[in-house]
Amino acid sequence: MRLIILKDYNSVSTRSAAYVASQIRKANPSSENPFILGLPTGSTPLGMYRELIRFHREGIVSFKNVITFNMDEYVGIPENHPQRYHNYMSKNFFEHIDIPTENVNILDGNAQDIELECAAYERKIMQYGGVNLFVGGIGANGHIAFNEPGSSPESRTRVVTLSENTRAANSRFFVNDITKVPETALTVGIGTILDSGSVMLIVTGNNKAHALRMGVENGVNDIWPISHLKLHPNGLIVCSEETTGELKSETVSYYKEIEKSNTAPDNLYKD
Ligand code: PGA
Repeated sequence: MRLIILKDYNSVSTRSAAYVASQIRKANPSSENPFILGLPTGSTPLGMYRELIRFHREGIVSFKNVITFNMDEYVGIPENHPQRYHNYMSKNFFEHIDIPTENVNILDGNAQDIELECAAYERKIMQYGGVNLFVGGIGANGHIAFNEPGSSPESRTRVVTLSENTRAANSRFFVNDITKVPETALTVGIGTILDSGSVMLIVTGNNKAHALRMGVENGVNDIWPISHLKLHPNGLIVCSEETTGELKSETVSYYKEIEKSNTAPDNLYKD
């Protein structure tokens, strides 16, 4: 697992966008052989989307032959709510790039049969041969997508109950009223994410410092879903300096040392 530690939120945004763009370019996707990209929502990836839009405008990357699968969606959220992830994704990313509408996949939390919706989503990912790159964030409780503490590494796309911790954190998007945050959601599983060719988690904000420590310095365990990334051969965490506050100084210097000699194409975008 790589851990890239950068100065601040803006550096994380540029670097994570550079990683996505470089992976797409390297794959040289076509309509017969598209690039399959898993995407997150929340506050953290907003800067990455802004940078990807900029790269697109500068001609660095095209999304014409990219198929996206979003990680999760609330159950029963009103169709016009800004936090409905369909709306979030259009406004913050899709309407600014060249991705064909039919290439976008987002779970429908208002489907008649949500169990069926999850099974069909998982099947569709498999039909494409799996996800090439899954991008995610983490919660302060270490969740990835809406896989809350205790989720199995074998888990697949399914209906989940959100933890009090997650609902409290997300209440800022629901007029600070936790009772307005849906209690259930649909999410890809940890197994779905770990099956991807590579996985990049972006972590900023000092409220994520404890979760980062549990993911990096602790063993793999179900109570800290982030820790399952260690099992992935191409796992990458891009984080800001402020999130490393609970890591041992030896851990921080070790990962910084490794990255100094890394010549991967995304390293071209150093700050
Ligand atoms: P955030 O959410 O980016 O809004 O902090 C991340 C998450 O809960 O996975």
